[in-house]
Order: sequence, then structure tokens, then C-alpha cells
Amino acid sequence: MTYPRKHLLAIEGLEPPHIADLLDLAESYALLNRSGKTQRDLLKGRTLINLFFEDSTRTRTSFELAGKRLGADVINMSVSTSSVNKGETLLDTASTLNAMHCDLLVVRHGQSGAPSLLSQKVDAAVINAGDGTHEHPTQALLDALTIRRHKGRLEGLVVAICGDIAHSRVARSNVHLLTTMGSRVRVVGPPTLIPAEASRLGVEVFHDMKAGLAGADVVMMLRLQRERMSGGLVPSAREFFRFYGLDAEKLAHAKPDSIVMHPGPMNRGVEIDSAIADHPTRSVIGEQVEMGVACRMAVLDVLAHGLRRNV
Ligand code: NCD
Repeated sequence: MTYPRKHLLAIEGLEPPHIADLLDLAESYALLNRSGKTQRDLLKGRTLINLFFEDSTRTRTSFELAGKRLGADVINMSVSTSSVNKGETLLDTASTLNAMHCDLLVVRHGQSGAPSLLSQKVDAAVINAGDGTHEHPTQALLDALTIRRHKGRLEGLVVAICGDIAHSRVARSNVHLLTTMGSRVRVVGPPTLIPAEASRLGVEVFHDMKAGLAGADVVMMLRLQRERMSGGLVPSAREFFRFYGLDAEKLAHAKPDSIVMHPGPMNRGVEIDSAIADHPTRSVIGEQVEMGVACRMAVLDVLAHGLRRNV
């Protein structure tokens, strides 16, 4: 295993062997989870704290499950966003967590860069579970693992990431991971929801779904992240669905064996039609959640090696 760092703060900067090794390890955890076995000695005696300043269902639960399956003591701290006084509170929180001798700290925060700041102030290994519009590295890993399981590879695949790219940390982490691994990434959405730096990231930009989906192997849909938008960047949900919502007609432009992904939470009838979200063969949305636990186990595993060296 070649993972080079103490923390996992971003996908940007990781090299192909680091990503490939993490995915291989996650694959072995996916098989272990399916077999019903556990490996509770790996993080025995270690403490994992889930520190979530923003709402979450899948990410928080799957870090909790991943930690428990590896034997860690897991504590969930939910901090209401309204009571957060950014910098000061964050650093106060850091010293509190340090005093508790936490080993692994999983952080979700509305401000880009908050996990990185915390990582400089705590002794624990820090995992970014989503920071503002910046990155969500474990989501990109679980998406890549899901794709690899279906397509056997990442290199050369055409992946269309569609919808609200501008406010999506999921999109940003996926773009870094997939371009690093040799996929051909397209971002598809209205001009108001495509960030100005998109073409610098090595992706192709499309404003039309049919053109953007043409010949795609993977279609990844994203939620309209209204909580991060200032002002009306989209007309109405109905109109958005008409032009950018994934339905059978638009999906017909992608490859016949293409898979459909969504990180959740889904807004059915806005970015995705229910019939597509629940499609028995094309939708892999449930499998993404399953791979989320496996990938988080792999990340905890590699970071735990660093912890062992430090004690
Ligand atoms: C995403 C997030 O929080 O960034 N959700 C997730 O982690 N599965 C995407 C979103 O909120 O739309």
C-alpha cells in the first residue's frame, strides 16, 4: 500500500498508484462485507469521531459502520450550523478533541478548507467528509470503485457528470480522480452551474444533455445544491428537469450498457426521473452506498498504519 499521507483531505495531488491501491483494498473490504465477516482487531482501542457541521445521512452512517466493523470506538458529534462561529469555534473544537485523544477525525463542514485547518491543529488523522464546494474524497473513491466493478477499468471511459457542477464538491473530487486515472470526463449543465475553471480541469464542457451524454459509459447526476447558491441560478425545478433532468429519452443517447449514478440525496423529478433512479439494470445508486462503507474501511485502514507508526 503506497498511500503517502497522514490525512485524507483531497483527491487532488494523489497519484494513480495511490488511488489504485485504495480501490483494491476497498474491493477486498466489499467482498469481506458481503461475506458477513468482520475484522474488528484492526482499530481496536482506537477512537473515531464523526464531526459533522452539515447534514448527512449516507456519509456519516457509513463512516460509523466502517469504524465499527474495524473495531474502533465511534462517537458522533453533530454541530448545528447556526451555532458555529467559524474559525474560533473550529479551533476550540480542535483543542477539545485533542484532549480526548481522538485517533481518527472525520469532518464535514460548510467552509472549504475547514478539515485542512483542523488537520494542522489536532494530533488525529483527519478525513475530509465534504468541505463546502471544495472536495469530498471518499465519495470519489466509492464512485470509482462502483464504476470499476461494472466496467472493469477507469481508463478510457467516457464519464458525463451532469447538473450543478459549480456547487458540487462531489464533482470536483470526481474530476480529479477520474482524469488522474485516464477517464475522459465531461461536465454537462447550464452555463450558470458550470464553474469558470472547468476547462482548466481537463474536462469537456457541454450545455446540452443529448450532446453531453452521446456515447457515455457512465452518467453521473448531481443535486441542485440550493443551500450553496446565492440568487436564482436556475429558472424552476420543472424547467430544469425538462432540459437537464435524466429521463429515458435523454439516457438513450448514452451507450446502451451505460450505468447511472447519483451520490444522493436525490431530488426525484428535478435532476432524475424516478423510473431511471430505480431502473433495475442501469441504476447503480444502491451499490454506490454499499461501496461507500467498503471505501471508508479502506481509508481508515491505510490511515491506521500511519497511526501505528506514530505510537
Ligand atoms: C453529497 C454531499 O454532501 O456533498 N452527498 C453525499 O455525501 N452523498 C452531495 C449532495 O449533498 O448533493
